[in-house]
Amino acid sequence: MKLKPFLIIVALLCISNVLVSQPVANTLIVHADAANDTISKYIYSQFAEHLGHGIYGGVWVGEDSPIPNTRGIRNDVVDALKKIKVAAVRWPGGCFADEYHWRDGIGPRADRPKMVNTNWGGVVEDNSFGTHEFMDLCEQLGCEPVICGNIGSGTVEEMADWVQYLTSDGDNPMTALRKKNGREKPWKVKFWGVGNETWGCGGIMTADFYANELARYSFFLKNYGGNSLTKIASGGLPEDYGWTDAIMKKWKNVDGWLQPYLGGYSLHYYTVPDWNKKGSATNFTESDWFATLSTTLKMEDLVTRHSAVMDQYDPHKRIGLIVDEWGDWFDVEPGTNPGFLYQQNTLRDAIVAAVNLNIFHKHCDRVKMTNIAQMVNVLQAMILTKGKEIVLTPTYYVFKMYSVHQDAAMLPIDLQCEPYTSGKDTLPALSASASRDKEGKIHISIANLDPVRTQNLRCEVKGTSGSKVAGEVITAATMNAYNDFGKPEEVTMKPFTGAQLHNGILTVSLPAKSIVTLEVK
Ligand code: AHR
Repeated sequence: MKLKPFLIIVALLCISNVLVSQPVANTLIVHADAANDTISKYIYSQFAEHLGHGIYGGVWVGEDSPIPNTRGIRNDVVDALKKIKVAAVRWPGGCFADEYHWRDGIGPRADRPKMVNTNWGGVVEDNSFGTHEFMDLCEQLGCEPVICGNIGSGTVEEMADWVQYLTSDGDNPMTALRKKNGREKPWKVKFWGVGNETWGCGGIMTADFYANELARYSFFLKNYGGNSLTKIASGGLPEDYGWTDAIMKKWKNVDGWLQPYLGGYSLHYYTVPDWNKKGSATNFTESDWFATLSTTLKMEDLVTRHSAVMDQYDPHKRIGLIVDEWGDWFDVEPGTNPGFLYQQNTLRDAIVAAVNLNIFHKHCDRVKMTNIAQMVNVLQAMILTKGKEIVLTPTYYVFKMYSVHQDAAMLPIDLQCEPYTSGKDTLPALSASASRDKEGKIHISIANLDPVRTQNLRCEVKGTSGSKVAGEVITAATMNAYNDFGKPEEVTMKPFTGAQLHNGILTVSLPAKSIVTLEVK
């Protein structure tokens, strides 16, 4: 009988140890009382290029296809994309943009001229998916179009006419042509890329040459009616801060001319540890996993340093940093066209997506849009298609899970975490971000990069009286788990029960190689 009080004391000590004083190496402070910036929903934008089956087969099947479609656009793909709240789609490239002549993609489809897609597999492009089809896709998705104009092999007149064709309702030849092609009312186009990778496939220009071209083109891309274009300048190579400086200097110096015309500056950065040996998307070791995550974390440095250059000229952050191409780039799947960039997508890609989104959230004062490459069937895709079948990738589920952060107030965080070690190298084991939505709910997203160890986290949310926590998790049994055609999904979102909230302190047990989003209310 004497044992009973003793057992009660031991039990109480254990509970208090778990709840209060258990040493936890990982700590997160969420400053819910210090929100300043909004996480633009456009961080959740996509990129869809005329590349492989990114458009043809992936989005566009044509009106006569047995695959259910609306005016030629796949219903299953649209339905899935609507669930992740795609904010904008960038089109038609990429490198393809600088050999695309928009007039080839309007009018009766049977009359549209064909071309060879020299960048991507040398296949015949029949232009059956053109301006009207793309704008229809955006309308079906309820998202904004981001049109990337051809500066490399086009002309100012051609690009200016495209803007007029899309957005003008005036008495002019382009409006008349649009009406003749069946679209009475002009569309609204908010975002316009003035060339793509102009240092390379977009024309092999120097920064100063492009800066002049940018000013010239931008000046002639007019706002019609109530439309207001946010023009996006092409950036240089990922680490070319001199290019950023040249464009920003030009922007500053032509005060009154270029300034009102430019709203964004583009950064492209792909997660590729070794461009000569990209490696398999599915068959990889832990050392490859580590190298991929280490490479993807460099996004933080790139965003910070490009932002610092932009700050020198634009301290009020009128120009957004637009990361309009990012994501994993691995070897194509065996047996597929090397020019089609078709790759599978595993839990590793999901972690890469979460890490990058956390970085973009942190820098949302400057990062105003990002477009993952690419939406369907190309590189780090949301969706893979095979005939009438579709697969939702692990990356898709991260975008779904993280959609709660769209247009929410970014909450600054302090994260202290254990290292994830591989040989002599280390990475932070955790990556996180937090926001408060318009209903006052706080969302905290955390990725555990360590593929082996569970990480316990103590999290304090300052400035909130939330008393309930719920969550969702994405993980799988293996690092290279993926979703495949005709098989049950291996990587998806599931309810998460590893978080407790007591006296304002969250304790979270993050499974190895996982992504968790918690909701505190
Ligand atoms: O996304 C594939 C290609 O990568 C794009 O066409 C180009 O802009 C980049 O180099």
